[in-house]
Amino acid sequence: MIDRYLDRVIHGDCLKVMRDIPDGSVDMTFADPPFNLKKKYNGYKDNKEFDAYLEWCKKWIYEMVRITKPTGSIFVHNIPKWLTYYSYFLNEVAHFKHWIAWDAPTAPMGKILQPSHYGILYYAKDPKKNKFYEIRYPHKRCRKCSYLLKDYGGKKAGLHPFGPLVSDEWTDIHRIKHNKYRDEHPCQLPIHLLERLVLMSTDENDIVLDPLVGTGTTVIAAKRLGRRFIGVDIDEKYVTITKNKLSKIYSNSKIGNTWVSFYLDVVVTIRDVDWVRLEPYFLIPENIKDIDFAKIYGQDKTWSPAYHRQAVNI
Ligand SMILES: C[S@@+](CC[C@H](N)C(=O)[O-])C[C@H]1O[C@@H](n2cnc3c(N)ncnc32)[C@H](O)[C@@H]1O
Repeated sequence: MIDRYLDRVIHGDCLKVMRDIPDGSVDMTFADPPFNLKKKYNGYKDNKEFDAYLEWCKKWIYEMVRITKPTGSIFVHNIPKWLTYYSYFLNEVAHFKHWIAWDAPTAPMGKILQPSHYGILYYAKDPKKNKFYEIRYPHKRCRKCSYLLKDYGGKKAGLHPFGPLVSDEWTDIHRIKHNKYRDEHPCQLPIHLLERLVLMSTDENDIVLDPLVGTGTTVIAAKRLGRRFIGVDIDEKYVTITKNKLSKIYSNSKIGNTWVSFYLDVVVTIRDVDWVRLEPYFLIPENIKDIDFAKIYGQDKTWSPAYHRQAVNI
């Protein structure tokens, strides 16, 4: 039954589409709804009444939970204001795991605290069965001198050569800043944000669904990482843009046989369990303490920036 939806981007209303999808059939659901902030979409009017907006959100959130497998995860991205209500809905039908703070500073506006993060609610359908992989990101370094920004003091010998485990605060992934990487869409997310969630909660060939897919960030991340995908958007123009981009995307975000997330030519997320297979592909200082000032590099020629620009900048 689910098969007819796989690897498709559907033009339609997410509630109608999800109602036809069987219970417990998807491994990961992710939604990034309009924030009801009067953003200029192509067709969608981003100005619902307060109660109407929340009533609508509650419906698609419940559908997302219903169609998620017992081993699966539910992610919802929004500004903190709306997430406080989403949590209330989700606590009825799923199990809270994390509030991921995605650091995304904006200009100070005065009179209020400067908004400096978006939130991603991370819920498990069944906490005992939930599929979860610890993930790592590269050490943060001074751009000029290459030294680690964090002072590990006497603990340098215990450093992981690739980088630390990711916490619930993500400060290393930036919003899309350049127009050349942007589609005609007001709220496009970076692909490697979604790739991190996909690597954390799914395996190869698992099914990832985004009911409000916009110009396709989630389905592109899923395809690049060898997952099956389903995307839905009410706007035909966004569906067309997504389909065009997908046609140029390969399931090739790998080092050797291991799926990883790249941003341009830099590996930005790996799974901790995969390090044993990935380590031989890196040039690592003989004395691990030298990680303090020495970056590790990939040894594989396919990591050239040109190769990955081709894969990422679609
Ligand atoms: C914030 S955007 C998603 C952006 C997306 N994460 C990306 O990176 O491109 C929300 C999307 O929801 C779509 N949308 C709004 N109402 C919808 C509905 N009832 N069913 C499906 N899509 C809908 C809008 O057209 C818009 O593209």
